[in-house]
Amino acid sequence: MPTIEQAQRWYPSDDPVHGFDHVLRVHAMAQQIGRQLGADLEILQAAALLHDAAGADPRENRAEHQNASAAFARQVLQGEGWPDDRIQAAMHCIESHRFRGQVQPQTLEAKILFDADKLDVLGAFGIGRTIGYAVQAGQPIYAAPSERFLASGDHEPGEPHSAYHEYLFKLRHVGARLHTEPAKQLAEPRERVMRSFFEQLADEAQGKN
Ligand SMILES: [Fe+2]
Ligand SMILES: [Fe+2]
Repeated sequence: MPTIEQAQRWYPSDDPVHGFDHVLRVHAMAQQIGRQLGADLEILQAAALLHDAAGADPRENRAEHQNASAAFARQVLQGEGWPDDRIQAAMHCIESHRFRGQVQPQTLEAKILFDADKLDVLGAFGIGRTIGYAVQAGQPIYAAPSERFLASGDHEPGEPHSAYHEYLFKLRHVGARLHTEPAKQLAEPRERVMRSFFEQLADEAQGKN
């Protein structure tokens, strides 16, 4: 089974958004929820440690990183002599972990990995990572969203995708997409912190509060 020591080599140590510390939090959260729900902890460990291992570089297009990471997971787990059905189970978790992805989590383990990964975009770490990602992508922390963006999520020509845009477009909807009861409970205080931060940010940008 992939170990934490092994996984450290697959991730950059200098990326606070999708680097190794994110993976460690997701792994710990997946194990915590997995134990509560009686999930297969070995599949969860492999999937959590491998879920962002390939194609997640913020300077590149991350749109397919779930598939690149699943393919990498197949190689690693085949190398360890895992049976094919368990490799497929770990790959399904990885393929379905992305909020903007096409594949929905079908198994308990896939739902838990999705939830553990999404809990790390809510709350205090979520705020830090969202701002970190905006900085990495050369985008501002705050820009006023256009009417078009508010109505459809589509940008006006030249409109930046600030951290605040990401809050409006994705983060405030994440809680409603969680699958498991323990994750929904953990999400509540995290969402409160996140909402109040981004609302305060917008107020300050407009000279209020
Ligand atoms: Fe990811
Ligand atoms: Fe992730």
